[in-house]
Amino acid sequence: MPVDYQSLNDQLAALLAGEKDALANSANFVGLLYAGIPNVNWLGIYVLRGKELVLGPFQGLPACVRIPVGQGVCGTAAEKRETLRVDDVHEFAGHIVCDPESRSEVVVPLLIHGELIGVLDIDSPQPSRFSEVDQSGVELLCDTFLQSLLLGPGEFI
Ligand code: SME
Repeated sequence: MPVDYQSLNDQLAALLAGEKDALANSANFVGLLYAGIPNVNWLGIYVLRGKELVLGPFQGLPACVRIPVGQGVCGTAAEKRETLRVDDVHEFAGHIVCDPESRSEVVVPLLIHGELIGVLDIDSPQPSRFSEVDQSGVELLCDTFLQSLLLGPGEFI
């Protein structure tokens, strides 16, 4: 059953409406997506702190806390400032294993006014779980989340 990203995006916009706290909105963002996107074993945010991505709100098993920019799928997406969709993580040189169940993933860089603030990482136990449609749907959701941060300081604690 494909995800209805438009409907999920409407739910997200309603959930975040009027709230500007970055930590609360990121926690709800991650919770809604994890509940709404099937075949996912880990979904969360890494926040940029200096030259590292540091673990933020997530759903799934405990994960590695710090990822240098440029390393792993998350660090590469952050460095390139572009979404990475990996059909088979075993084929990605330098992939960082947090949950050995993960087989495919999509990582979206989170940018405010062109500045990187972190990434959204979604992992699946199913190879090639994420299509182009999933990618654009998840990018739409990230945009809605980022819009909510514009209401406040746009920074995580
Ligand atoms: N998959 C990531 C590491 C983070 S965990 O999967 C939660 C990567 O290689 O960047």
